[in-house]
Amino acid sequence: MIQKRRSKIHGAGVYATRAIPKNTRIIDYAGEKISHGESLKRERRYIRNGRHIWCFTLSTRTVVDAGVGGNIARFINHACRPNCYIEIKDGTIWIRAARTIKKGEELTYDYNTDGDGLIPCQCRPDCQRLL
Ligand SMILES: C[S@@+](CC[C@H](N)C(=O)[O-])C[C@H]1O[C@@H](n2cnc3c(N)ncnc32)[C@H](O)[C@@H]1O
Ligand SMILES: [Zn+2]
Repeated sequence: MIQKRRSKIHGAGVYATRAIPKNTRIIDYAGEKISHGESLKRERRYIRNGRHIWCFTLSTRTVVDAGVGGNIARFINHACRPNCYIEIKDGTIWIRAARTIKKGEELTYDYNTDGDGLIPCQCRPDCQRLL
């Protein structure tokens, strides 16, 4: 259903290899489950070493670090008007289709970051947001 390819937004991205119906659970965001404290340390290191956000907040206690044991979901880029959304269920982070996604479209979801990474968003030419 999906494939990693070079992205127009940033580096590698993930693309639909066929049409994906709305609400499909496309893939889970895999990785090592760690504490917020550990995540802060690792995020600082990841940002320094290539401005990468790999840590995804699962709950008030837990963060999933896709830099360790992650799957292809870790290459899904952020967009401010995304075609996927997140569902957190029973300790799993699901990436689901927000609408019908056409074959060949890049998958995106909203990272919901608070701008700490200071990465200028490149989801579209006039985007002003900081990731
Ligand atoms: C989870 S990775 C996504 C895969 C990444 N494109 C790669 O090649 O490894 C997250 C990183 O991708 C980049 N990224 C994702 N969405 C972006 C966007 N809309 N604008 C700019 N950079 C983005 C940032 O560097 C971010 O830290
Ligand atoms: Zn944007």
